[in-house]
Amino acid sequence: MEYKRKLRNGVEMPYLGFGTWKLKDDQCADMVQYALENGYDAIDTAQVYLNEEAVGEGIRRSGKKREEIFVTTKVRNRFQGYDSTLYAVEASLKRLGMEYLDLYLIHWPGEKMYIPTWKALVRLYEEGVLRAVGVSNFYPEHMEACAQETGVMPMVDQIEMHPYLVQYEIIDYCREHNVFPVAWSPLAAAGESRKDSKTEKGEERMKVESPMKDPVIIKIAENHQKTPGQIILRWHIQNGFGAVPKSSNPGRIKENKGIFDFSLEENEMNQIWNMTKKQIRIGDDGKTYRFLLLEELIREGKEPKKDRFGNYL
Ligand SMILES: NC(=O)c1ccc[n+]([C@@H]2O[C@H](COP(=O)([O-])OP(=O)(O)OC[C@H]3O[C@@H](n4cnc5c(N)ncnc54)[C@H](OP(=O)(O)O)[C@@H]3O)[C@@H](O)[C@H]2O)c1
Repeated sequence: MEYKRKLRNGVEMPYLGFGTWKLKDDQCADMVQYALENGYDAIDTAQVYLNEEAVGEGIRRSGKKREEIFVTTKVRNRFQGYDSTLYAVEASLKRLGMEYLDLYLIHWPGEKMYIPTWKALVRLYEEGVLRAVGVSNFYPEHMEACAQETGVMPMVDQIEMHPYLVQYEIIDYCREHNVFPVAWSPLAAAGESRKDSKTEKGEERMKVESPMKDPVIIKIAENHQKTPGQIILRWHIQNGFGAVPKSSNPGRIKENKGIFDFSLEENEMNQIWNMTKKQIRIGDDGKTYRFLLLEELIREGKEPKKDRFGNYL
């Protein structure tokens, strides 16, 4: 299979990227550098991870040319709105130390502001500051509204996806409309560490054992002499999904890249698809997740801190 996916506008995006949520400061810069030196050429960050500067540092340290790397970041929810999104993208560029970005996503739909946010991203896309634009955690109705309001359909939808959760309705829509679906938490491993956290409604999150520990995956891994993580990541890309696994461990970072030298049989793919009947969500749901905007935070006396460039975080 191809190693990159051509987005609707012809821009090529690697199927596999390096996720950076929870990586901060020096550790983040070190792991990004390590990933780039070990075969990755795409990095996934977001304003809310508070690591854009460290990602930029890791990229520079790797010595790779800017055009060899595909960099994705995301508008922080509080910056939704037309002017605040223009401001947010400017802030990302400064922190990353870049003049353009390969892909900019709206992190979550929320309820009211994603259309002006999308209009701002489309403007920056048309001006050439962003090579591609997309969304994350969006349902078909959100993408449909974006396309109707601007004539530009998102090129990517980054969503929670792993062998315990495929959001079929979103995937079908992506296939019909040539939107590239990219899996976040592709290994669902973060579900284990989330057992003590609560949802935005204050409900306890369910402890979810990673599908890497599922006997079906372990058996397939033994057949191929690969690790469970590699089997799951291969399943993603063989389905035509992108994936952005995160690791803070050099061995696992390298391991997660080792998925292009084998393929899964049809019956193995089907066995993993069968696991998706569980439909276990480990993160939030784009239909219900809500947040406060910058001016609402300020009004409530919760003015955010600023970065060293003077931009709100
Ligand atoms: N758009 C969104 O709303 C959204 C939401 C969540 C995440 N994301 C993106 O998606 C990326 C990945 O999601 P995620 O970090 O939640 O989950 P993930 O990549 O599925 O899992 C990460 C966890 O798995 C462990 N791990 C990684 N490779 C492994 C392997 N081969 N074997 C065993 N364990 C392994 C890591 O631990 P170690 O670090 O110890 O290796 C880490 O705890 C994020 O970093 C972020 O870039 C986006």
